[in-house]
This record gives sequence, structure tokens and C-alpha cells, in this order.
Amino acid sequence: MDRELEEKLMEAAKQGREQSYSPYSKFAVGAALLCKDGTIFTGCNIENVSYGATMCAERVAIFKAISNGYREFEMIAVYSELEDYTYPCGMCLQVMQEFMPEGIVLLENKKEMKRFLVRELMPTKFEF
Ligand code: THU
Repeated sequence: MDRELEEKLMEAAKQGREQSYSPYSKFAVGAALLCKDGTIFTGCNIENVSYGATMCAERVAIFKAISNGYREFEMIAVYSELEDYTYPCGMCLQVMQEFMPEGIVLLENKKEMKRFLVRELMPTKFEF
């Protein structure tokens, strides 16, 4: 994966974050999912006054892609204004394990971008 594409994907995650609906946590997150054919779907976190109904940016991006007929994904970028990397939560990792077990998670802190394998962040998944 070339650097230019990674930067484009992180920029898309940043753009996605602009739509965040996060009046409760005030923690805005953006995500951008790169499909195998190059299509990019963005996502943002969408909160709810019933906190448990909140949806993370990563799953919004993945569900947008799935509901548009896409099934093959290469990489997902996550962006927030945290100093450190914003690691995806366990539920988002479970969803990544379902749809992109061989995929890459691209994270950024104030210094650099770094890639992680989905299976490195979540080596096992729930299944039956
Ligand atoms: N959140 C995400 O969107 N992605 C993550 O990887 C971690 C958490 C959101 C959920 C909630 O709206 C806010 O961040 C604070 O937990």
C-alpha cells in the first residue's frame, strides 16, 4: 500500500469526523474504509441519549459499505484528535474480524501513522 493512498485514506477519515454527532462524550471520531476496488466509505460516531445506542465511526463506515454491496476491504483508517492512537473498541474489532480478517487498521497519533493488522489487535474472535 503506498504512502499516498494511506494519506488519502486518513484524510477521508478526518473528513468523516466532521459529521460526528457526539454531544454526550464530545469525542469526535472519523473512519474511512478502503474497499479492494479503491472505493472509500467514510464514517463518524453517532451517539444517542440512551448511551448504549451509540455507534462507533468504524462500524458506520463498514455498515455503509456492506449495505452498498461491498464485501472486500483492505484497510480502515481511524482519526480523532487524541494525542495517542485511537484504537478501535472490541465490538468494532469483532466486526472487522467478520469482514476484513486479513485487513489493516491505519492509526495516527500526533507524530506518525502506523499500520496494525486486524488479527494483531484481535487475535481471536467470537464464533460458534
Ligand atoms: N468511538 C468510536 O467512534 N470509535 C472508537 O474506536 C472508540 C470510540 C466513539 C464512541 C463514542 O461516541 C465516543 O467515541 C466515546 O466513547
